[in-house]
Amino acid sequence: MYWFAVLANFDASGPAVFARATIQAFEKHEEDPVRKCFFSITRDEMNHEECCQRTIAKLWPGGPLDWTPVTDLEKAAHNNIGWLYHNGGRYWTGYSSAVGKYSLPVLFTSFMMGEMAASTLFRGMSSGTRHPVFSEMFQRIGRDESRHLQICMTILENEWPGLTDDVRSLITRQLRAGFVFLSMILWEPPEGFWELPPYFLDNHRVLMDHAREAGLGVLSYEEQAENWRVAMARIRAIVERWGIEFPAIPELDIEGVHVDFLDPEEIIPVF
Ligand SMILES: [Fe+2]
Ligand SMILES: [Fe+2]
Repeated sequence: MYWFAVLANFDASGPAVFARATIQAFEKHEEDPVRKCFFSITRDEMNHEECCQRTIAKLWPGGPLDWTPVTDLEKAAHNNIGWLYHNGGRYWTGYSSAVGKYSLPVLFTSFMMGEMAASTLFRGMSSGTRHPVFSEMFQRIGRDESRHLQICMTILENEWPGLTDDVRSLITRQLRAGFVFLSMILWEPPEGFWELPPYFLDNHRVLMDHAREAGLGVLSYEEQAENWRVAMARIRAIVERWGIEFPAIPELDIEGVHVDFLDPEEIIPVF
């Protein structure tokens, strides 16, 4: 339940994020396929959110938050989920005010990073899980995410040739923002965007170990780091073709341009 509650922090924002982007595409008179791609991603994300919701309801009635914890482990889970959703709210506030400010290549590079992260995550989990229902769920969600990734790539191939240096450096910052935001589900939260109490991470590790031992397919800390590194290398290869510098990710020993302070309104990526 805890793992799905963490996932829901990302997947449950998907429908609203892409619905808002769909409206934005209409308002800016984007061409028809762009509008419809956004719409189809919105629909897929609704299904992903539904997967989280139904799994949580089945495993832990009242979850993620409408239940009273009794044991220490339950209290830790309940409290951590509360903190996650506090940050989910901050992400949404930032995203709503940012979406109108950014041009299509900036938005789509951020989405592309989210889709790369999501397809990587679900591919890893579908091969790791020992439960047939979760295996099929992760495979199907992973397939959707790969399709979203391809949609983003197709749109970016059209948008990137007109890039200016200003936009390029904005994208570099966005890639760092994507790492900071998405690491919560792919790996562990780095310093930056996340507002969390000091005990969060210790409790998170214990809870994730439970999910791992239950056969959900949660990769080990090192496997997660390696997966994330590989996904990042793919993104790097794509963006560098267009003269976009990659940010430094010291957490994963990835060299690049130093990106300092990120404020919440710079966080765009989503699953
Ligand atoms: Fe997606
Ligand atoms: Fe998704």
